[in-house]
Amino acid sequence: MSTQVTGYLAAPGFEADLAAELGEVIAQHGRLVLAPGPARPAAWAINVWHEPLDLAVPSIGAAARALRAIQRNWWPYAFQLHRRTGLLAEALPKVSAKPLTFGDPVPTAPLGSFVWLETGRLLAAAHCSSPFPNGEAAFVEDRVVPPNRAYLKLWEALTLAGCRPGPGQRCLDLGASPGGWSWVLASAGAEVIAVDKAPLAPSIAALDRVSWHQGSAFALEPAEIGPVDWLCCDVICYPERLWRLIERWRGSGLVRNFVCTLKFQGETDHEWAARFAALPGSRLCHLWHNKHELTWISLASPADSGGNGSL
Ligand SMILES: C[S@@+](CC[C@H](N)C(=O)[O-])C[C@H]1O[C@@H](n2cnc3c(N)ncnc32)[C@H](O)[C@@H]1O
Repeated sequence: MSTQVTGYLAAPGFEADLAAELGEVIAQHGRLVLAPGPARPAAWAINVWHEPLDLAVPSIGAAARALRAIQRNWWPYAFQLHRRTGLLAEALPKVSAKPLTFGDPVPTAPLGSFVWLETGRLLAAAHCSSPFPNGEAAFVEDRVVPPNRAYLKLWEALTLAGCRPGPGQRCLDLGASPGGWSWVLASAGAEVIAVDKAPLAPSIAALDRVSWHQGSAFALEPAEIGPVDWLCCDVICYPERLWRLIERWRGSGLVRNFVCTLKFQGETDHEWAARFAALPGSRLCHLWHNKHELTWISLASPADSGGNGSL
């Protein structure tokens, strides 16, 4: 493309949030939003297409040759021309996109993305931000032990963060019930203080390293709990309330790492999202496993991350 453009892919149903966050938009192709300039932080993007090329390609064969000349691995995004997309994908080297076992390293080979804008015109980006095809973080799921699917959010957040709790670490899990996140933390070998007004599922309450404290997350005094390596919060509350909670814990200096869900009821509150995104050294993202919510992650410096270190 002659002027610099970046592509931002939204999860299904979140295109409007992404467009609103980006402000100036050049074009939208299905869930792919093109905005001017180099890539910038965009919480609602599950994958960012850096420097996409607008290619005139007279045939499937020509398209395959053009993409292969750039690199080996490509993944399609299709919002139209599905048959043409399938034919091009078949003409390219096979990309294995097996679900990831939590704890295994994410694939590091570059994975590009392409989309047909019209017959004979392809948009392709060799460099994309997500290691997962179209940002869809697929895991080998445990359909037996965790009491709900919320654990997938924490798996995804820790995988993208590149570190996770480990033996000997203390985790505070706020809004813990029924216990998916507590199960993730305890399974990693950490001690978990689970706080919720509602009880944990019996199978989670029975875990050795999990203790449940009944009560409100907002009534806790950091000094009563003491130092924690990870503060995880999945409480359903307004952004402003989460903000005050985080500020109290950040101010206490007792927490090294945060993973918190910022939930929206009704309209998305972009102003609050921007405030969380601007907190120094943190990251705000819409995970593939997030619903109408964003995940705010703030980590201690990598050298101090402890636990199991980088994935
Ligand atoms: C989305 S669920 C959490 C799911 C949990 N992360 C898991 O993996 O199972 C939200 C939880 O927040 C709890 N909650 C709501 N208000 C709370 C408060 N003031 N203090 C503590 N927990 C609260 C609810 O009882 C509910 O269990």
